[in-house]
Formats: sequence, C-alpha cells, structure tokens
Amino acid sequence: MIPTAQIIVLDAGGQYCHLIARKVRDLGVYAEVRPSEAPASELSHARGIIISGGPSSVYDPASPTVDPAIFALGIPVLGICYGQQLMAHLLGGEVRKGVKGEYGLATLELEQTADPVFAGLGGPQQVWMSHRDVVGRVPEGFHVTGRTSTCAVAAMAAPERRFYAVQFHLEVVHTTRGNQYLSNYVFGVCGCEKDWDLTHRAPSVEQEIRDCVGARSVFFFVSGGVDSSVAFALCTQALGADRVRGVYVDTGLMREGETEFVQRIGNLTVEHAEEQFLTALAGVTEPEKKRHIIGEEFVRVQERIIESRRLMDENWILGQGTIYPDTIESGGTAKAALIKTHHNRVAGIQRLIETGRIVEPLKSFYKDEVRMLGREIGLSSELLDRHPFPGPGLAIRCLCAAEDEPLTLTAEGAIVPVHSVGVQGDSRTYAPVLAIDALDHARATELINSISGVNRVIGPVALTAPMAQMKVRACTLTADRLERLRRADAIVRRLSHETGYDHEVWQFPVILIPLGTATAPDSVVLRPVDSVDGMTAQSVLMSEELRTRIAEELLQVEGVAGVFYDLTHKPPGTIEWE
Ligand code: XMP
Repeated sequence: MIPTAQIIVLDAGGQYCHLIARKVRDLGVYAEVRPSEAPASELSHARGIIISGGPSSVYDPASPTVDPAIFALGIPVLGICYGQQLMAHLLGGEVRKGVKGEYGLATLELEQTADPVFAGLGGPQQVWMSHRDVVGRVPEGFHVTGRTSTCAVAAMAAPERRFYAVQFHLEVVHTTRGNQYLSNYVFGVCGCEKDWDLTHRAPSVEQEIRDCVGARSVFFFVSGGVDSSVAFALCTQALGADRVRGVYVDTGLMREGETEFVQRIGNLTVEHAEEQFLTALAGVTEPEKKRHIIGEEFVRVQERIIESRRLMDENWILGQGTIYPDTIESGGTAKAALIKTHHNRVAGIQRLIETGRIVEPLKSFYKDEVRMLGREIGLSSELLDRHPFPGPGLAIRCLCAAEDEPLTLTAEGAIVPVHSVGVQGDSRTYAPVLAIDALDHARATELINSISGVNRVIGPVALTAPMAQMKVRACTLTADRLERLRRADAIVRRLSHETGYDHEVWQFPVILIPLGTATAPDSVVLRPVDSVDGMTAQSVLMSEELRTRIAEELLQVEGVAGVFYDLTHKPPGTIEWE
C-alpha cells in the first residue's frame, strides 16, 4: 500500500520540486508534491513541508504563493530558493532585486549551532545557486545562518518555530552536503520514520493491480519505453499472461532492431503500420505538421485495434505506464513549462479513462523507482537503462527542407538554412543553424547570444568536402533517408554502448540534416546531452577518440557527406531538432 505522505513538497514552479520529493524518498520517507497554493487544512497530516524553488519573483502579482495558514500548523517548514524568499516575504521580512544574479557554484559559510538541522554541517562548503532576488532583511524571529561572498542571506532559521530556509539548491548533486541537510531536516527536525523501501515493492504493487482489475483483463499499447514495459510486465506477473494483452505499433519510424527488441518482452503482438505512416508523411517538411500527422495516424491505428479486438467490451480495461510526474502535469498543477507535445487521445481511450476502466500501477513512482521495480521483477538492464526516446520516433530527427538553398558564409561561420526548433523563455523558435569551425562550447554560447536569427550552433567532426562546397537540398521524409538515419543511429548506439559512453549521458539523439554534396546529400549531427528531466540540458563533449571512431563509421554510410556536433545547450536549443 502507498503510505500517507510524511513530507509534502509545495510546487512553486521550479523544475526541481520533483527532485526534492525524490531525494526525500531516497532517504526512505514517502513524499508527495502538491500545488503551492494547497490549503493548509490539506497539509495538516504531514510531518514536514518543503516549499520548492521557482523562476518567479515574489513581487510579481502572478507569482506562486502558499496558504499563510501553513505557518500556523505547528509543522516544520523548509523553504528552498524561491521558497526562502516567499517565507521572508510572507512572514514580514524583505526581498530585494539582487544587483547581479548568482548562478552556479558558491562557497557557503554555515554557522555552527546546536540546531538539529545543522548537525555535522558547520563550516565552509560548496553549494549550487541560481537566483537574482535576495532576502534583504530576515523576518522577526529569524536569524541568518549562512552566507556566501555575494549572498548575505544564504540560509536563515527560526528554530523555535522550526522554520528553515536556504537560498541554495540543496537537492542538486553540486551542493555536496545537501543530502545531509535534507536528512537532518526530515529525521532530526520533522521526526519522520522510514516507510518507503523500494527493494521489496513488487508484491504489494501486484496486489494493488489484482484489487483494481478484479476479474477483468488488461490491454496495453506498449511503446518499448521503460514505463510502459515495466507496467506491462508487472500486470503480466500479477494476473498471468492469459489476462494481459500488449500491442506494439510499428510505425516504420523506429530505430534499428526496435521491433525485435520489444518482442523479447514477450506476450505481445506487433501491429504493422509502416506503409500507413510513410504515405501520410509523404511530401511534408514542416515539423509541426509532421507531429500532427503522426499523432493522427496513431489514433487511427489504435482505433482500428480497439475495434477489431473488441477491446471496448467490459471485460477489458486499459493498462498504462503513467508515472508520478505525469499525473502531476496532466492534473494541470505543474507550473514548470511543459515541453512534450502529447499524442492526441483516442476517443475510446478517453472514455475508458473517464469511466475508470484503467489501471496505472506506476502512478506513485518516479522513474528511478520504476527502474528498481523492474529490476526486482527481473527485467534486463538493457531495457531498464534505456535512454528516453520520443514517441514520434526518427521522424523528428530526420530534418527536411522545402527548397534547395546555399549556405551563407560569414566571419563567424556558415549559416546553414536548415531550420530547427529551439526554446527561449516560454516560447519556441524555429531558425537556421550556425556551423563554426571548432568544437568550442564557450564560443558557441557567445555567438548564439550575439547573432540574431540562429538558435543552434554546430561544429565539424569530419567532413568529406569543404563547407563552401556544401548546400542544403530540398527533401522530405522518404524511406531512403529514414533508412540512412536508422543506420547512422545504430552505429552511434553500438559504439557508445561498447565504450560505456551511453552511461555518461542522459540522452544521445542522432540527427540527419539535408546538408551535403551532389553525391552525398545528407550530414549526421551528434547530440549527446546531460540533463535531469529533459526540461533543460547541457551539450557535452565526448573524447576525441570516440568522436573519430564514430565519424569514421558514419562516413561509410551511403549518402553521408559530413558529421557534426551540436554545441547548443537547452535553452536556447531543444534536445530534439524536429
Ligand atoms: P525537447 O526536444 O523538447 O525534448 O528538448 C525534451 C525531451 O522530451 C522528449 N520528447 C518527446 N517524448 N514524445 C515523447 O514521448 C514526443 O513527442 C517528444 N518530443 C520530445 C525528447 O526526446 C527529450 O527527452
């Protein structure tokens, strides 16, 4: 059974609120995320509250706030980053616009006191900061407990009321003793008890599945991703293979060997729809249109399957691999910008959800917890440690162009008229790419900030012809180009697996762009990134040795003129090019 949450994290719009809840769970204590404005009456059962960070300023009228009555519950409250500023603001202190922001690593001088929250923590230590506003004056009853060279109130506390706040992000790995601080708060201040053991969870999850499903059977659309595969395997284990059906749709937009890989999960059938998708996508170059068509075709296939297999019959319910962060987002409470475009929903599936004919065994778990559950029931690490892969598949990594166009050579590099998607602030951009002559992240960042009209920078790994001889050719999503990308992607995946590089990065898209010569019309772009959740990402550079090995093999692929490296962080680039 899922316990009642001992720690509630109030989501003030930071991408880190889930990370905080997950860190608390890693300590063995069940935590949940709630919208920041949740009424105090709904939080009174908790042993402790944490207010997360967020991008707003407390003086912006639209900024998130909390119910002030939470400060009268007698429960400990910890504010992190924006959470600290909000506490200062609501409890009678003062928040000021910082003269300059403080972003990145800083050295914190933490006061040495007998307070349990600081047990074993006094002295200088490395923390990670990301803020502009600062607390100018602490509220009455508080005192300053930590400082950095640019932040006079890096931590504050009112120990008698058990209120604590920090300006730094204690939930990220760069704050080296953040876990100790969190553990002191959770156990030492809030008095939580361990109630969340992920090493033996499968039997209780399976019991929940049996209780929910009753005498009915379950069908799944399995994508090959971690979540739907673990949910499917748990249901199969709980109910027996006879009462669980999985269908995998082969859209023809999948990676090499994917269909065979998914079939190894067992107990599922493959619906072939390759022709249908390719036909619908013929002649299309625009990314949003591609996405839309893929969504629509997917709906058609699902409808066909539901109809032909009589899955609307009441003996069937739908199984889904929804995980905890998905439930928060779809409830409309998440304030962090949503990045994924979700598939259109099939009317039949919508009806099943509305009438409660659905089982979602993973809806209380985070991704890492899902992986642990998968391990517990014996699924392979090959499946569990897979990088995320987008639903629309290779289609969003195979770039198209409406017309032939030359490059524009400038002092900074060549402007390549292949448009890719980017993200700036809350809005998406669609702009050409700048190709520079070196793999230099610092220069790439500087150029992207100074040249208007480009949102992405690439550098060369290996070229078969000088840039001046390359151009962009009109092309669409054809079977040939998809096959070229599939081969390139398979080469990169094999080499990064053999060298262990796939464990060093969060995701590694391989993109095909229509930049080439008369004999070889395309180039390949490598895009390894590091990320926490895909909302922001760092472009990371691999060793020269690995780059060279990958490029040598890629240039053997028919039709490939060059290999480039994407040097763009997110923002301003997105992870996928589309
Ligand atoms: P972007 O490109 O927006 O991607 O930086 C962020 C993360 O989301 C994944 N992604 C998708 N996943 N369906 C998915 O299931 C989609 O349509 C989709 N689009 C992007 C992307 O791979 C990255 O991990």
